[in-house]
Amino acid sequence: MSQTFIFSILVFQLLFASQPCHRILTSAAGGKWQLLQKSIGVSAMHMQLLRNDRVVMFDRTDFGKSNLSLPNGKCRNDPSDTALKVDCTAHSVEYNVLTNKFRPLMVQTDVWCSSGSITPDGKLVQTGGFNDGERRVRVFNPCNNNNCDWQEIPNGLAAKRWYATNHILPDGRQIIIGGRRQFNYEFFPKNVAANIFNLPFLSDTNERGVENNLYPFVFLNVDGNLFVFANNRAILLDYKNNKVVKTYPAIPGGDPRSYPSTGSAVLLPLKNLKAAAIKAEVLVCGGAPKGSYLQAIRKRFVAALNTCARITITDPKPQWVMETMPMARVMGDMIMLPNGNVLLINGAGSGTAGWESGRNPVLSPVLYRPDNKIGSRFETQNPTTIPRLYHSTATLLRDGRVLVGGSNPHAFYNFTGVLFPTELSLEAFSPDYLDAKFNNLRPTVVAPKSTSVIRYGKKLTVQVTIPVRVVQNLVSVNLVSPVFTTHSFSMNQRLLALGNDKVTALGKAMYNIDVTTPRSSNLAPGGYYLLFVVHQDIPSQGIWVKLQ
Ligand SMILES: *[C@@H]1O[C@H](CO)[C@@H](O)[C@H](O)[C@H]1NC(C)=O
Ligand SMILES: *[C@@H]1O[C@H](CO)[C@@H](O)[C@H](O)[C@H]1NC(C)=O
Repeated sequence: MSQTFIFSILVFQLLFASQPCHRILTSAAGGKWQLLQKSIGVSAMHMQLLRNDRVVMFDRTDFGKSNLSLPNGKCRNDPSDTALKVDCTAHSVEYNVLTNKFRPLMVQTDVWCSSGSITPDGKLVQTGGFNDGERRVRVFNPCNNNNCDWQEIPNGLAAKRWYATNHILPDGRQIIIGGRRQFNYEFFPKNVAANIFNLPFLSDTNERGVENNLYPFVFLNVDGNLFVFANNRAILLDYKNNKVVKTYPAIPGGDPRSYPSTGSAVLLPLKNLKAAAIKAEVLVCGGAPKGSYLQAIRKRFVAALNTCARITITDPKPQWVMETMPMARVMGDMIMLPNGNVLLINGAGSGTAGWESGRNPVLSPVLYRPDNKIGSRFETQNPTTIPRLYHSTATLLRDGRVLVGGSNPHAFYNFTGVLFPTELSLEAFSPDYLDAKFNNLRPTVVAPKSTSVIRYGKKLTVQVTIPVRVVQNLVSVNLVSPVFTTHSFSMNQRLLALGNDKVTALGKAMYNIDVTTPRSSNLAPGGYYLLFVVHQDIPSQGIWVKLQ
């Protein structure tokens, strides 16, 4: 911490300690920040939580030398690398959440601005990248003995995929949509010879020379179709028959929300899952006004968008409803918390995504409570001290914290002499619900045991202890999917609020909570989920379950 910074804090305290508004200021904010690692050696541009509480992270192979050596004197010989032909440093790490340790991993080809998804059996399948990595598929099969590493499949993709979005499908495959100059989609693994399907929506939303439609926001709707958002509007895609079944209106104002005018989006919690018709809502927040990217190249940094747009995608006549955030944000992440609130975190107040193109880091996360009345949904949280701009990431952990890393707006690792140096650090943001003052409300899951298999449309009994007497209508079992996060978008993000069918008190603060598991893979594709029990908005620690 610099002396000027400490001095400013002192001045701030002197000025405000005796002011009545000070209390209000602190009580409006919430959450705590913790520095986990000063440096993990690479910049966490992409992040995926695995079923063994380890997080795979990577940046790009053509950044030059990272700050972490490959193990046992290994080096990568890559004649097509644009930075180093022989590179003895790592560009990927595995971070162990439970021990707060990390180890280098070895990628062979360039993974820059790629995408990925977890398979139903818990492997990370990462697709595409740049240069020699653009048609690669890489598989990371989690292990607990530190022996696993990336396996690469050359020509695993039918097309080059750079800035594409993946989503896991109800049949267990994944779809890979778009990417630079790719107005189409494909599947992995493929099940037909011709594996490229045209998607004119991606050329229609592509702005010449600017794009503003990369890393589309993709969500699996409850009817099995895919909601695909790019630039300022969306379609509902029947990907099996390559047909657009619904066209949504443009967000009022018409400003772009996709890369490089990077906003973010979430599918809000899916509830009342036993109903015949289930409602699905999408929330899109932030971004940069039209023209911002070209302005940023000329060193004019336009203020980011301060609006969110919310839409019921299952509505017969869907309309966007606009809301105003406490602050403008571009390149912010939207993270679904275990209790169904959304955390907006990272990003900048002006500029866009792209090299050297962001300014005014937004240090304060904002909480969004989707069930509150419009106008009282946002709550500003306590700020970090570390700017997280372009190429930063965030992901929910099983213990309810949010892991935050990355930020590198430079084409190399630049640690000195630049505005916003390359960030190698990892932080955790602990939302207020982790505060010890809520421990009497907090459930502890006793059964099932972690990594239990649960099946579709079945009764499941979750046994918990909760110190206080449980209020039945304020307890819910929630399933949260592990996400692939990059460029401010978390692929496959989904929360299934199972509520409860019955709560039975067993004595000694012990309860059985009966729930019904999701009835179909359209609601919840098979695979690993974090199961949380939430009581009066306070979540338990999660346990891993496998839905099949
Ligand atoms: C890089 O690593 C060295 C030692 O391993 C350390 O002293 C240095 O601070 C690191 N640099 C950054 C920017 O983290
Ligand atoms: C970043 O680092 C690279 C390689 O070390 C160097 O060539 C470049 O000038 C640096 N960029 C800036 C903006 O200082």
